[in-house]
Amino acid sequence: MRVARKLGAARVHFGHGTDNARDEAAEMVFFAAGLDHALGAAAYSRTLTAVRSARIAALLERRIAERIPLAYLTHRSFFAGLELYVDERVLVPRSPIAELVLQRFSPWIEARRVHRILDVGTGSGAIALACATAFPKARVDAVDVSAAALQVARRNQRRLGLQKRVRMLRSDYFTAVEGCRYDIIVSNPPYVGRAEMRALPREYRHEPRLGLAAGADGLDAVRAIFAAARRHLRREGILVVEVGNTERLLLRAFPRMPFIWPEIAMGGGGVFLMRAQDLDSEN
Ligand SMILES: C[S@@+](CC[C@H](N)C(=O)[O-])C[C@H]1O[C@@H](n2cnc3c(N)ncnc32)[C@H](O)[C@@H]1O
Repeated sequence: MRVARKLGAARVHFGHGTDNARDEAAEMVFFAAGLDHALGAAAYSRTLTAVRSARIAALLERRIAERIPLAYLTHRSFFAGLELYVDERVLVPRSPIAELVLQRFSPWIEARRVHRILDVGTGSGAIALACATAFPKARVDAVDVSAAALQVARRNQRRLGLQKRVRMLRSDYFTAVEGCRYDIIVSNPPYVGRAEMRALPREYRHEPRLGLAAGADGLDAVRAIFAAARRHLRREGILVVEVGNTERLLLRAFPRMPFIWPEIAMGGGGVFLMRAQDLDSEN
């Protein structure tokens, strides 16, 4: 509670895996004390050694003074039940798409028909690796234009033993997968507009700009995905894209597209889904 109070009083920005002081304090303390989150509230009665208390104090100090997202200090992040390594080469995974992956994109696609999945802009590999875990028979391609991000993604791929079914490819959107077709194309692309980039809290400046900035209105990446997704999807395939708060701009830019907005119980939202055959609706 003391750590949570200090985070709150320092007015740090939450939004890199947790959205409140209490949850972030719990992760900070559990990490520094080497405790498993599975212990839950039972861990709260434990007494901390001086060394562990000093570790917590050091994390807290850097988190507050330098506004570094906690995941970059601990080098760990949790996504769809997976523990991932992260550092400043990749965005801290936090996409609400995790929930859809865990539901195996039901009811929009039949899981047994899913053989190939593409994750566009994979960053740490979070979505691609979660998909490979949720669909144990599917092959997954994960692309990113950032070679540095792919180093992190490959490290996570090795940790999870997913080298056989997941390909990590350096690619400007779809360039490295020309001619390939998928049952699911999923993406959490950059979607922050120019004015919004300037106004972001300090925490976001530790994240790669490539992971956030998407032109004047924040829709550059979505436009690039729309332009190519149709020819990379199988007939019954689906496209799933996070657009966050650019949802309204998107609807204005593509008024005829029949977007589906799945409900996300864990909160977050701003994720649309589109069937392959509907991708031509704008033409
Ligand atoms: C918002 S981050 C998402 C990372 C990861 N998918 C996640 O959800 O945590 C967007 C990612 O898209 C990548 N990216 C940006 N432009 C790209 C492009 N032209 N082609 C492929 N990937 C791109 C960035 O390097 C970054 O890793």
